[in-house]
Amino acid sequence: MRKEVVVITGAAGEMGQALIERLSEDGVNNILALDVNPIPKSLRARCQLALMGNILDEQLFGRLVSEFAIPRIFHLAALLSTRAEFTPEIAHRVNVEGTMNLLKLAVDQSGWLGIPVKFIFPSSVAVYGMPDLATKEREGAVREWEWNVPTTMYGCNKLYGEHLGRYYAEHYRQLAVDQAVHGVDFRSIRFPGLISAFTLPTGGTSDYGPEMLHQAAKGEPYACFVREDTRMPFMAMPDAIKALIQLEDAPKEALTTHVYNITSFNPSAGEMFAEVKRAFPNAQVAFEPDQRRQMIVDSWPVDQDDSRARKDWGWKPDFDQKKAFVDYLIPNISRRYADAAQPS
Ligand code: SER
Repeated sequence: MRKEVVVITGAAGEMGQALIERLSEDGVNNILALDVNPIPKSLRARCQLALMGNILDEQLFGRLVSEFAIPRIFHLAALLSTRAEFTPEIAHRVNVEGTMNLLKLAVDQSGWLGIPVKFIFPSSVAVYGMPDLATKEREGAVREWEWNVPTTMYGCNKLYGEHLGRYYAEHYRQLAVDQAVHGVDFRSIRFPGLISAFTLPTGGTSDYGPEMLHQAAKGEPYACFVREDTRMPFMAMPDAIKALIQLEDAPKEALTTHVYNITSFNPSAGEMFAEVKRAFPNAQVAFEPDQRRQMIVDSWPVDQDDSRARKDWGWKPDFDQKKAFVDYLIPNISRRYADAAQPS
């Protein structure tokens, strides 16, 4: 018998770490964590198996198929938007070919298991592309089908990943005589920028939000790479993880699409700084826009309309802006850096 596991790719990333913690707190004890980077030791103990490996490695997938039964996949691995602009072709390989490999794994597994394999895929606000600031301002919160013209490689990759998922879920090998009865149950969430009290993102363009806060908590000055009036949606990490789990749990009949927006609060960079300053009055932030990264955030909408997620699977964030800062970010981040400063 093959051992049943829940696969999490990108397990050493921000979302991966938070998801492993949450699932293991919920009693899930059969996580197979996969990442190109080492998975932090504290998390390895919460996993059945923690593998260092590349989602482009076919041999690795061969091993997974032969050793494990995989009814659920959280495919979180990706190169984020800033990083991807430096190596767009590599980003395409990781973000698109990597996703294909996982979808193929899901389809194979569903054949073995005789049930649809659940495939949870984080997409992003980066799939949107607003042509100019006037349009961004005028359009406000965008709906899932609007402005799907991303300007970044990452945005293009995520948008295509959504389409691939829909294809595997609904049209895979549609001309084959031996139509598979099972297949992939593909569910995706377009996340806004995420802010965690415990980790920092690497290579994203919404990173100015978390960076500003973490630098202030460390008592270090920060040069913010976007203008003060820059606005985009954000969310506290626990809400993002809650959403992944809630969407995974939702009854299939309730879902009317494969891809859902969610959102929580959308301060301007200046308002974010004001929030940070309330907690850390000595915080120093200089607004020194980097024109090219600014262009990327300017192409993202001021907000996402999440009414479909609210209606279909009862989505509602626990943390609005105030609560995110006061109840989650500030206390945890203060403790984190106070602990780090303690001599061991
Ligand atoms: N946080 C991501 C980025 O900045 C957007 O999904 O790339």
